[in-house]
Amino acid sequence: MGTLIKNGTVVRADSSQKMDVLIEGETIAKVGAALDDIGHSVVEATGLLVMPGGVDMHTHLDMPFGCTNSADDYTTGTQAAAVGGTTTIIDFALQLQGQTMRQTLDTWLKKSHGKACVDFSLHMAVTDLGPGDGSQGLHEMEEMVAEGITSFKLFMAYPGFLMVDDGLMFKLMQKAAKLNALCCIHAENGSAIDIVVAQMLAEGKTEPHFHALSRSTKSEAEATHRAIALADMVGATVYIVHLSNQEALGELEHMRRCGAKALAETCPHYLVLSLEEHMPGKSWEEAKFVFTPPLREKKHQESLWAALADGSLSVVSSDHAPFRLADQKSLGRHNFSKIPNGGPGIENRLQILWHFGVNAGHIAPEKFVELCCTAPARIFGMPQKGVIAEGKDADILLWGPSANYTILAATQRMAMDYSMFEGWKVKGNAAKVFSRGELVVDNTTQPGKFLGATGRGRFLKREANAGGL
Ligand code: URP
Ligand code: ZN
Ligand code: ZN
Repeated sequence: MGTLIKNGTVVRADSSQKMDVLIEGETIAKVGAALDDIGHSVVEATGLLVMPGGVDMHTHLDMPFGCTNSADDYTTGTQAAAVGGTTTIIDFALQLQGQTMRQTLDTWLKKSHGKACVDFSLHMAVTDLGPGDGSQGLHEMEEMVAEGITSFKLFMAYPGFLMVDDGLMFKLMQKAAKLNALCCIHAENGSAIDIVVAQMLAEGKTEPHFHALSRSTKSEAEATHRAIALADMVGATVYIVHLSNQEALGELEHMRRCGAKALAETCPHYLVLSLEEHMPGKSWEEAKFVFTPPLREKKHQESLWAALADGSLSVVSSDHAPFRLADQKSLGRHNFSKIPNGGPGIENRLQILWHFGVNAGHIAPEKFVELCCTAPARIFGMPQKGVIAEGKDADILLWGPSANYTILAATQRMAMDYSMFEGWKVKGNAAKVFSRGELVVDNTTQPGKFLGATGRGRFLKREANAGGL
């Protein structure tokens, strides 16, 4: 006996059609019109959209930052993902200087063990290739790829902690090209930014607002260009994470026109929050919006929406990096450079993109599926995910396009004391969520609750496909 999702509209990246979907075990067994329901338990989906579960390729669960760790661990973070309609995440295993990639991977597998509630994979964020010529680290990259870690993140920001120099970046890109692995880049010129930060602090400019002013769009555009140019020299594919503004976008488009293999994502907060409105420099509570790259002026949003619509930007990820206001962001009460960077978004990514993207006419429902589900699964080598088709994992999101929802910190699943979107009323929300065939969320009957067993999420080994380019 299977589960038959009946009378819904299946939305794929290329088309939408009224169809039924039969789940058998963990897999999609059949997709077709008016499937026979005899012997199956029926889930009525009239008025609902049947989409692949969301794929969020940019999260930071239980991540050390300064002297604290991000507030969501693998349990609360993946449950919040599921409640919001996301059934696969890719988190960043963060190599601390002096550690090997192997030690880093072990640490992250321990963090997730028995805790992850939806399927997950890992990127390796590399800060160190080991002593001498880096051959140890380059060899470890081969091991990582063999074990399904097929993307490597490099930070061009956060000097002294995470930032790598151009030499390390170039070596890693050479190796990644040989391995068909992806290079994910945090593109900001960290050295220039650090000088501005020191100057601002010396002038007594310590409030959160100055965090944003210290990290210019030009510093992001310069690093975006440099990363893509270095990757292009060696034929590597580069994926720019959290691209925030039109100048960086211009560099991406220019380098792509020149033949570079470059992809990029943006995040919901850059699409709907702005420097003028949310960080005017009036209150310490603006620390809620301290993340990197920072909030930009509103004028950048139109370019980002257009780039999502025309394919210049390929993915929308959350960059979920949650730090509570009361006891974590407050570490930087008197010095913005000590505020842990990041914002909570794993639970709201789909709501925000639907309401401000689809409802506002910037993107079609099919594009929504492409950006949030299909493209991240394809680019990051997970052929079982992100598609409603026979034989694929039955990760299925029943989406209520007209469901009204008010975003509130008090009712969210994320282990946070604030929301970046507090009090916002959105139209469009996850109704039911299946992960490998199991109903793990039913927001229509038990809103905000995760119904599956803690620890049921599986580690996914990914293919090395150079981003599918
Ligand atoms: O502010 C951010 N984005 N924090 C998370 C770490 C990163 O840079 O992605
Ligand atoms: Zn980053
Ligand atoms: Zn991030």
